Amino acid sequence: MTLTNLVTEIKTIFETNKSNKLDEINNKLQEYSGDDWKTNLKYDPSRYTRNSVFKDDNCQIMIMCWPPNYVSPIHDHNNSECYNKLLDGSIIEKKFKIKNNDFTLLEESKIEKNDIIRINDEIGLHQIFNLDSKKYAVTLHLYVPAYDSTFIYKKESCNIKKIKVNLSTE
Ligand SMILES: [Fe+2]
Repeated sequence: MTLTNLVTEIKTIFETNKSNKLDEINNKLQEYSGDDWKTNLKYDPSRYTRNSVFKDDNCQIMIMCWPPNYVSPIHDHNNSECYNKLLDGSIIEKKFKIKNNDFTLLEESKIEKNDIIRINDEIGLHQIFNLDSKKYAVTLHLYVPAYDSTFIYKKESCNIKKIKVNLSTE
């Protein structure tokens, strides 16, 4: 399955009246095993990059490149369902809830190639680490629905500060 096929399959899922669309999306992401994601990616050693694959009213698909030694802010997902499939490299995902004005770690997982992470605001917040000192990590992201701003969370003195960030896709 190529990325173009994947986009076609995902669009088809939204054209049906099925109630289990998210399960079907997850299955299609699992089936994708192409290497055509490698073309036209923008890499930047100072920040993660968002490379658009597809966007419409129902969903957004993009490929993100995480530089070596990168730690993302703790962030939410703007009430969307979010799937990340690891295409290359390795990442650590930490999931959090906010409790008593502090972050409570729910889970820490090492994500292997082809693993899929699922997150939404009900599950919690998360943070992505690429701890490799040389290699970029590359992830395929699918959001249902698309969104263009979200919140990051920082602990400052005794409070958690919530900061709105606008996201653009290069
Ligand atoms: Fe995320």
